Amino acid sequence: MFKTSICDLFNIKYPIILGGMLWVGKADLVAGVSDAGGLGVLGAGGMTIEEIQSEFEIVKSKTDKPFGVNIPLVRPDSEDMINAAIKAGAKVIVTSSGSPKKFTKMIQEQNCRVMHVVANVKFAKKSEEAGVDAIAAEGYEAGGHNGKDEITTMALIPQIVEAVDIPVVAAGGIADGKGFAAALSLGAQGVQMGTRFVAAHESAAHDNFKEALLKIDDNGTCITGRTTIGPTRAIKNELTDMIVKAEGEGASSEELFEMIGEGRSIMACIEGDCVQGSMYCGQIGGKIKELKTSKQIIEDVISEAQIVIKQLSSLI
Ligand SMILES: Cc1cc2nc3c(=O)[nH]c(=O)nc-3n(C[C@H](O)[C@H](O)[C@H](O)COP(=O)(O)O)c2cc1C
Repeated sequence: MFKTSICDLFNIKYPIILGGMLWVGKADLVAGVSDAGGLGVLGAGGMTIEEIQSEFEIVKSKTDKPFGVNIPLVRPDSEDMINAAIKAGAKVIVTSSGSPKKFTKMIQEQNCRVMHVVANVKFAKKSEEAGVDAIAAEGYEAGGHNGKDEITTMALIPQIVEAVDIPVVAAGGIADGKGFAAALSLGAQGVQMGTRFVAAHESAAHDNFKEALLKIDDNGTCITGRTTIGPTRAIKNELTDMIVKAEGEGASSEELFEMIGEGRSIMACIEGDCVQGSMYCGQIGGKIKELKTSKQIIEDVISEAQIVIKQLSSLI
């Protein structure tokens, strides 16, 4: 069922990938998604190498299915992180925030796959030239850091699919079977979901963050950082109000950094401060109204997609 080239490439049952999520996508969620037939990806952006290794020990104790890791290439120790993750058993390295060129060959030589996250056609082509195995194309509705070009998933996927010959995974705004079916219709070979999995029982997000997510509507997120540190989508709160106001008044990146300080994501994700902390979340958050296990999320996506596709074919 829905066996695409991404399933063969990553050796998974369903073409559903857990987006790497800083502080949220830890061992329990990774194992849950992989065990249910998707690809669990560790959100390693804030982890030390030792933490990556110990998270993978937990993953391996819970499942024998393949799993991956997200390595933001802005990390100065990204090469060491990649090597340690592969040694610890990762089968897919999802790179983001930087060029994968330097790392692609050495990852593939260790019998591991590389998928790079992009937000426009130009970087999709560059990633293909760099030799990556697949591309995750992330639209502007996604939670977390977004592309500066503000291209939505609906417009981005068909253009990237046309521009490259390697498999494309759609990310941004997908949380159910309708979104999954739409992504496949646009030419994607799979989906990467972040926001939906924040509201999984196994996600490491603080309960207050999960509750806040379940309460928002379609207009519950906003972009900050457009004029300064780069667009980032999160749930609206006092923090985002403060940043939007400061940016509107022309604050520079330095002024903004000073105002925000460090650790705003930790405040929300780990400490549960949903007023002053940063809760990365996509626009599809407004549709998520209950916590589920990762297994249930994946099963629901697949069964709803079957129904949607049957309904559509009855129109022909
Ligand atoms: C809480 C949260 C944290 C995220 N952290 C990262 C990260 O560390 N690295 C990364 O490449 N993407 C990160 N993302 C983006 C996801 O990997 C994924 O591409 C995105 O959530 C997909 O869009 P969606 O939120 O509409 O499902 C994050 C997203 C969320 C919601």
